[in-house]
Amino acid sequence: MPDSELILCSLPSILALLLTFILIKRKRSRLNLPPGNMGWPFLGETLGYLKPYSATSVGEFMQQHVSRYGKIYKSNLFGEPTIVSTDAGLNRFILQNEGRLFECSYPRSIGGILGKWSMLVLVGDMHRDMRSISLNFLSHARLRSHLLREVEKHTVLVLSSWKEYSTFSAQDEAKKFTFNLMAKHIMSMDPGMPETEQLKKEYVTFMKGVVSAPLNLPGTAYRKALQSRRTILKFIERKMENRIQKTKEGGENMEEDDLLGWVLKHSNLSTEQILDLILSLLFAGHETSSVAIALAIYLLQGCPSAIQQLRVEHLEIARSKKQAGETELNWEDYKKMEFTQCVISETLRLGNVVRFLHRKALKDVRYRGYDIPCGWKVLPVISAVHLDPLLFDQPQQFNPWRWQNNGTRGSTTSGCPGLTTCNNFLPFGGGPRLCAGSELAKLEMAVFIHHLVLNYHWELADMDQAYAFPFVDFPKGLPIRVQRHTSM
Ligand code: HEM
Repeated sequence: MPDSELILCSLPSILALLLTFILIKRKRSRLNLPPGNMGWPFLGETLGYLKPYSATSVGEFMQQHVSRYGKIYKSNLFGEPTIVSTDAGLNRFILQNEGRLFECSYPRSIGGILGKWSMLVLVGDMHRDMRSISLNFLSHARLRSHLLREVEKHTVLVLSSWKEYSTFSAQDEAKKFTFNLMAKHIMSMDPGMPETEQLKKEYVTFMKGVVSAPLNLPGTAYRKALQSRRTILKFIERKMENRIQKTKEGGENMEEDDLLGWVLKHSNLSTEQILDLILSLLFAGHETSSVAIALAIYLLQGCPSAIQQLRVEHLEIARSKKQAGETELNWEDYKKMEFTQCVISETLRLGNVVRFLHRKALKDVRYRGYDIPCGWKVLPVISAVHLDPLLFDQPQQFNPWRWQNNGTRGSTTSGCPGLTTCNNFLPFGGGPRLCAGSELAKLEMAVFIHHLVLNYHWELADMDQAYAFPFVDFPKGLPIRVQRHTSM
């Protein structure tokens, strides 16, 4: 085809493209977008946004942007035009309108590694079905009847292995505890057994990839994690087949006490869906709680008066158990841990295990005069609200007493002193995607703290600090040295 004909043929497409571009431009110029900076082409401001900073702060990037543009600003992050919200009201609005105005939208790399059936990336009916399975399994009734006992057993197992005056990583110990608990709860795997240790090893490689740059190139952490994902899934699949085989042979009833047994018996999920569900629950339940426990150990060692008050609370519980001739904690004991709940809330507020969530706008949305265009990414930054001096007095300070019942609404057991504070405190997200394991997480933290303060005095063996990468981590693993309490 001669050049002139080629130009003539492609003219309509070029014109159409040009027209669309002009229309989008016009529409955008009519919109009242929040102020902000779109940064470099494609990269936008992603590098600045992801630059590590102290986990008990909002970081320099956020600080500068909020003071320059206000609590709601536009940017270009993770390759997409984005509205960043550090505004408590907008964050609640986004989370409450899940599925109507906004929808969960994690980067594609997360789906690649956690699986397309992972709860974190699913939306709509499939998300609802998977969620109800998880909620059923993490219900209040199960916490009381099964999980409290398991949580205590696994806590004692980890704490009793600590050697006095030796230095070890508190973060690794917290990870050991939450991994063992999840492996038991999900697939009835016992701690220390070769298959549990093998899975744990594979999982460590997997996790390194989840939090790394999603570069699927030879030698990268992401590529290695994809390989580990395949190994872990094969492992879970073999467990599944064994269960099904045993049930067929009638030699063993399908294990109902773990998640695997439950989904095999009560759901009609495909093998692929079950595998992704199990992997994503292992991830959601293990990483977050272990970071929260490490944060509590870290923040408490800087606040002796809080440890003192915790000891009084837990010594009293231990004393009354001794009098009643009981050894294991029960639900009534847990309910007595009121100051402990304040410590947990304060740890989650200041440490911010999950710092921001990924959403996208399903429609054009107007909020307080600003337009959020359909299809744009929206990031509710929950950590910025928790560290906002207008909402929390001296927000950088670890002050568990701020959560004590001060005569306003709410109760100390739920860790909420008043309605306003509760509304601004969203460590577990909110709306239809509120964390399915929030009650389990608080139970794990409380029981761990119970045995920790009763048995040990601890100190940092080397300076370490929690950093947001933006996932929270202690670069040195939080090295501590412990000393046993002589009297209880
Ligand atoms: C301190 C510990 C924890 C924190 C801070 C935390 C935080 C969160 C947050 C913020 C979300 C919302 C994500 C979003 O909206 O995009 C979430 C979701 C979720 N969490 Fe947790 N979590 C913790 C522990 C756990 C535990 C122990 C489990 C249970 C095994 C768990 C299971 C889940 C699940 C299944 C979801 C997805 C819920 C859904 O999409 O419907 N989490 N978590």
